[in-house]
Amino acid sequence: MSKLHIVANRLPYSIKKEDDEIELIASVGGLATGMKSVYEDYGGKWIGWSGLNSDDLEEKESQKIDSLLGEKNCVTVPLSENEILEYYEGFSNKTIWPLFHYFTQYVDYTPANWETYKKVNQRFADKVLEVCEEGDTVWVHDYQLLLVPEMIKSKKPGVTVGFFLHIPFPSYEVFRILPWRMELLKGMLGADLLGFHIYDYERHFISSVRRLYGYEINFNQINLEDRVIKVDAYPMGIDYDKFVNASTDIMHKSIHERSDLHKELEKYFLMAPQRRLVLSIDRLDYSKGIPQRLKAFGNFLRKYPEFRGKVTMIMLAVPSRGHVEEYQKLKKEVDELVGNINGEFGKVNWVPVWYFYRSLPFENLIELYASCDVALITPLRDGMNLVAKEYVASRITGTGAIVLSEMAGVSKEMGEAITINPINEDEIADALYKALTMPVDEQKERMQLLQHRIQRYSIFKWASEFVNDLNKVKELQQEFL
Ligand code: UDP
Ligand code: G6P
Repeated sequence: MSKLHIVANRLPYSIKKEDDEIELIASVGGLATGMKSVYEDYGGKWIGWSGLNSDDLEEKESQKIDSLLGEKNCVTVPLSENEILEYYEGFSNKTIWPLFHYFTQYVDYTPANWETYKKVNQRFADKVLEVCEEGDTVWVHDYQLLLVPEMIKSKKPGVTVGFFLHIPFPSYEVFRILPWRMELLKGMLGADLLGFHIYDYERHFISSVRRLYGYEINFNQINLEDRVIKVDAYPMGIDYDKFVNASTDIMHKSIHERSDLHKELEKYFLMAPQRRLVLSIDRLDYSKGIPQRLKAFGNFLRKYPEFRGKVTMIMLAVPSRGHVEEYQKLKKEVDELVGNINGEFGKVNWVPVWYFYRSLPFENLIELYASCDVALITPLRDGMNLVAKEYVASRITGTGAIVLSEMAGVSKEMGEAITINPINEDEIADALYKALTMPVDEQKERMQLLQHRIQRYSIFKWASEFVNDLNKVKELQQEFL
C-alpha cells in the first residue's frame, strides 16, 4: 500500500539527555505541535533531526535514540556540530529565517553555510529515498528543507511530493536579495503541490517564480518544462477538540487534583477578585515583537493608572535557537525590559509581569489559556501563529478577548480580534484597554464566531485538504502527458 511520509527538520519529539538518562519530550513550535496530531494517520514515517549533536553521541546512545524514536515512527537524520552550526543555526536561522520575516538587517550571507545547507538537504533527501517506495507520497515541510523536493523528484519521479512553508514567503523585492534565490526556487519547484498559510505568501512566491524563471502561470498552476504543478493557500489549523477536552478536564478537577500553577493562579484571583490576567506566549524570537509588547504594556500602565495593581501580564518565553547571536541579544533585552517594568510599577503585593523563560507541559499551557482574560499576540511577522487559535479553543466559558497583530497570518481568519500594528505601542496600549473593558456579551459574541471558524478548519481538515489536492495534481499531470 502506498504511504505518506513527513519530512521536517524538527521531529515531533526531541531528546532530553541528562547524564545517562535519555527521554523523549514533545518538540515546541507550530510545525511540530500541529503535524504531531496527524502524521500517524497516514501510515508513513516522519524523517527529521533529533535535536542532538551526533559528534557528542556514542554508538550505543545513537542506537538507543533511534530505537526510541523508531517506536514513534520517526527516522533520524544525524547532524554533526559543524552541520548544526552552518545548516541549522547558519543558513536556516541566520539567512532564510530573518530574510523571510523581513529582518534584512540580520541576514548573514556566509557562502560556507549555503554549501552545508545543500549538503544536509541532500542527506535528508537520501534518507527519504531510502525509506520511500515508488508510488509513495512525501510531504516536505518548511524553510530548512527548501531543496529537498527537487532532490527527491530528480531521483524518483514516480514519488508524489508536496511541500508546505510554515513561515511567510516574502515579497519578490526581498526574496531577490538572496544570492541563492534561483537554486532555492528550483528546489521548491520539485514539488507537485506547494502550500502556504495565506494567499499573500502564495502570491509572492508566484511572482518570484514568474520574474526569475519566466514560467507560464495560470491562476495557481505553474507550467514547468516537463510537468504542471500547483500552488495554494491552506491556513494551518489545530487539534481543536484536544484543547476543548483538556480545558474541560481542568475545569472539573477538584482543588487537590489541580497543578501547582493552577493553584497559584487561583490564589491570585482570591486575593482580589477584580484582578485580570493578560497572556503572552511565544518562542523567544525577534519575529514575535516581545520588546514592543512589553513597552506597550508599560505605556498601558502609564496611560491607564486605574489598572495598576489590577492587571498582571503572564509572559511565557520559550527558549529557542539560543546559540544564534540575535536570540541572545533579544534575551538580554527582554530580561531588562521585564525588570524595568516590574521595578517602575511593582508593589509589595503586585507584580506587573510574571516572566517564565522555559517551556511548559501541555496541561499548564491549557491552564494559562483558560485563566487569562486577554491574549496579547503582537508579532512583527508570523507565518500563522497557532497560539492565537489554541487560546480560542481553550476558552470553553466563551469569554476572553484577543489583541492581535495584523502581521500574523492568523489575523486573516480572526476579524473578531482587536487588530493592531505591532510597532505602534500606543495603539497596543489602547487595544489592551479595549480588551480589558469589553463587555462580557461582546466577548462572547466575538469568541463564538472565532470558535466556530477555528473548529471547522482543524488540523485534520487542513492536512486532508492538502493531501487531496496533491492527489488531484497527480491526476492533472496524467492528463498533460
Ligand atoms: N508551545 C509548547 N510549549 C510551550 C509553549 C508553546 O509546546 O511551553 C507550543 C504552542 O502550544 C504552539 C507552538 O508551541 O502550538 C507555537 O506555535 P506558533 O505557531 O504560535 O509559533 P512558532 O513557534 O511556530 O513560531
Ligand atoms: C517555527 C518553524 C519550525 C520550527 C519551529 C521551532 O515554527 O516554522 O520549522 O521547528 O519554529 O524552531 P526550531 O528551530 O527549534 O525547530
